[in-house]
Amino acid sequence: MSDILKKDKEFVWHPFTQHATERDPIVITSAKGASLYDEAGNEMLDMISSWWTCIHGHAHPKLNAALAAQAQAVPHVMFSGFTHAPGAELSEKLAQRLPGDLNRTFFSDNGSTAVEISLKIAYQYWKNADEHGRTKFLAFDGGYHGETLGAMSVGRGCGFFKLFEDLMCSIESVPYAHTWDGDTDIERKEEEALAALKNKLSVHKHEIAAMIVEPLMQGAGGMRFCRPQFMKQVTDLVQAEGILVIYDEVAVGFGRSGSLFACEKIGVVPDMVCLSKGLTAGYLPMAVTVAAQRVFERFLDQDPAKMFLHSHTFCGNPLACAVALESLNLFEEEKTLERIAHIEARHREQLPHLQAHPSAAQARVMGSVLAFNLRGLDDAFKSIESVTLRDWFWERGLNIRPLGNVVYLMPPYCIADEQLDRAYAGLFEGLEQLARRAA
Ligand SMILES: Cc1ncc(COP(=O)(O)O)c(C=O)c1O
Repeated sequence: MSDILKKDKEFVWHPFTQHATERDPIVITSAKGASLYDEAGNEMLDMISSWWTCIHGHAHPKLNAALAAQAQAVPHVMFSGFTHAPGAELSEKLAQRLPGDLNRTFFSDNGSTAVEISLKIAYQYWKNADEHGRTKFLAFDGGYHGETLGAMSVGRGCGFFKLFEDLMCSIESVPYAHTWDGDTDIERKEEEALAALKNKLSVHKHEIAAMIVEPLMQGAGGMRFCRPQFMKQVTDLVQAEGILVIYDEVAVGFGRSGSLFACEKIGVVPDMVCLSKGLTAGYLPMAVTVAAQRVFERFLDQDPAKMFLHSHTFCGNPLACAVALESLNLFEEEKTLERIAHIEARHREQLPHLQAHPSAAQARVMGSVLAFNLRGLDDAFKSIESVTLRDWFWERGLNIRPLGNVVYLMPPYCIADEQLDRAYAGLFEGLEQLARRAA
């Protein structure tokens, strides 16, 4: 056992890990592009972009250079009473790229804090207008928004957080219209979901501060896609009641859906957007909650109590902002959206094979994401079967990590055709393996 592994086993407490039963972690010593390398030099293709973050691939020279240059200038300074070039420029750039008046960036550290902040802004937005009855949030069944208490509350429908339910804040939930390629029942599902939403709004509209959604793709809940027109109708219905709509684009933002942001593809201007993961291209923990100017203005007052009552020590960290700025530049320099369109086309070539496979169901592609369900496999998150399958992929040099019975690819955008071919071959080999076991 290597020295690193010994130290890890003695001192580290890993996320989402049952240390009594989990296999030893893989020690990664270097990473480049779409590849990770272990201590023995074995290559593993990072087909899920290390929890969906490293959008341009690992150790990109331009991102490395931006980070190093910022470290020489200002690595960190508190963000209350002080500002700096990468923070101001990144906020400007996000405002330019996001639609409508989404132009006020509040910084934090991770996807959960971005969500928590959006919920607190929504709550205080109504308090600042002396409307005190809006104490609930509306969310979709099956949604996931992170691990802090507010985020768990609005994500309770994903089923991960039963243990913590007594601690949660009050929410209402509505059904989501999940779809896939070749789904013939989607019109009915959408009609039913919209009818349930209308019903919910008619009863609870004066109690709800905001609705939070993962637009176009429920990620951790199982890569469940919906159609843009459905999400637009939902957004329009909720905004028509004056209720704020929060787009949690932590997973889908920065190109995953094929557009830079899902709200762009849907054609709406939500009241707030949460971004993280791809924001710093997987380099540093940072998130933003971008609010519409009209939301921001509700907090302007001579009374200090009306300011937004929230801060984090590392708000607006300059190193993270500098990398995020460079990452946005790369979208133009490397024509990243074209690369994503190419990945989508490659994924789509796999669809007929998946649709014809007896072990796969509900095959679906959106932007750089390919997903399908495995027939007959336990759908519980981290079920023994899904962990066995993950280990099987790992042994074949592919970082593919099923979510219960859902297998998906979400590669870095720099991935080469030959690397995609290796991943597809591994997927189909895995499917054959399962089919043989079932026979
Ligand atoms: C849609 C969504 N929101 C929020 C989060 C939470 O982000 P983090 O893990 O950075 O706290 C995630 C994480 O997967 C996510 O997918």
